[in-house]
Amino acid sequence: MTIKHFLQFKDFTREEFEYLFERTGWIKNEFKSFRQYWPLVDRTLVMIFEKASTRTRLSFEAGMQQLGGSAIYLNTRDSQLGRGEPVEDAAQVISRMSDLVMIRTFEQDIIERFAANSRVPVINGLTNEYHPCQIMADIYTYIEHRGSIKGKTVAWVGDSNNMCNTWLQAAEVLDFKVHVSTPPGYEIEPERAGLHGTGHFEQFADPMDACRGADLVTTDVWTSMGFEAENDERMKDFADWRVDSDMMRVAHGDALFMHCLPAHRGEEVTAEVIDGPQSVVWDEAENRLHVQKALMEYLHLGRVGRIETK
Ligand code: CP
Ligand code: NVA
Repeated sequence: MTIKHFLQFKDFTREEFEYLFERTGWIKNEFKSFRQYWPLVDRTLVMIFEKASTRTRLSFEAGMQQLGGSAIYLNTRDSQLGRGEPVEDAAQVISRMSDLVMIRTFEQDIIERFAANSRVPVINGLTNEYHPCQIMADIYTYIEHRGSIKGKTVAWVGDSNNMCNTWLQAAEVLDFKVHVSTPPGYEIEPERAGLHGTGHFEQFADPMDACRGADLVTTDVWTSMGFEAENDERMKDFADWRVDSDMMRVAHGDALFMHCLPAHRGEEVTAEVIDGPQSVVWDEAENRLHVQKALMEYLHLGRVGRIETK
């Protein structure tokens, strides 16, 4: 039997995302209404972190508990993972003692190798290349505020990092457009982003042009985890790629602003924008919890009907 994993956004079809967003709405509403929904009683999620996290750890751990299961946290410092045990061996062992695995690591290759040796579904909780759970939450947030993202334009301002790559994949799967503006030397690499074509994105030298008419403006840190050695150089190179109120002004009148967080006010975004009326960053963060509950339910149980709650 083939096991379904969520290692990059394009692992799921548009139809699967439509199902997952519908489930997210139902699960979120049940939870907000204080109705218990425990489809994963006795099931265990193992969370492996090779990089720091606040939101990802919290949302997966809380989410698993809210579904009736439990979550175990492993990091490289306190486990054999940091002492050279082959990732293939770790996958064999960990997946015999758990029902779902979430991994935050460096190269995508590590998570692919883990998944190839896992008996249970593996979820990408961020790699150097992708951050699919975050983009699921972002798109769910967009839908909650504005409806379908199909045919809309997302402006990406800043680094062509894991978030940018995942937005580009999502645009292909869900049929919207991404306007990308990065400093020279930091342009997107369509092959690394795992894209099929070039029809869903456009590159702009000037970030103002990328934002013009956009329905959503989004950015991320200038220096991602694992790239700290480049920080000083990046501070200089990215200075003109700060999302500010001028960029928001040329975007569509009802454009939203998103940031996966953690944010650095005064670097990639001004305080005026991230704390302003168009920003939905707190909804975006909260929705990590709800979309990932739908994701875990789907990966472990497949499609379910509307289960009665107590
Ligand atoms: N956005 C996000 O993944 O946050 P953490 O690094 O805190 O998990
Ligand atoms: N691009 C950032 C996202 C953090 C959630 C990083 O990889 O560090």
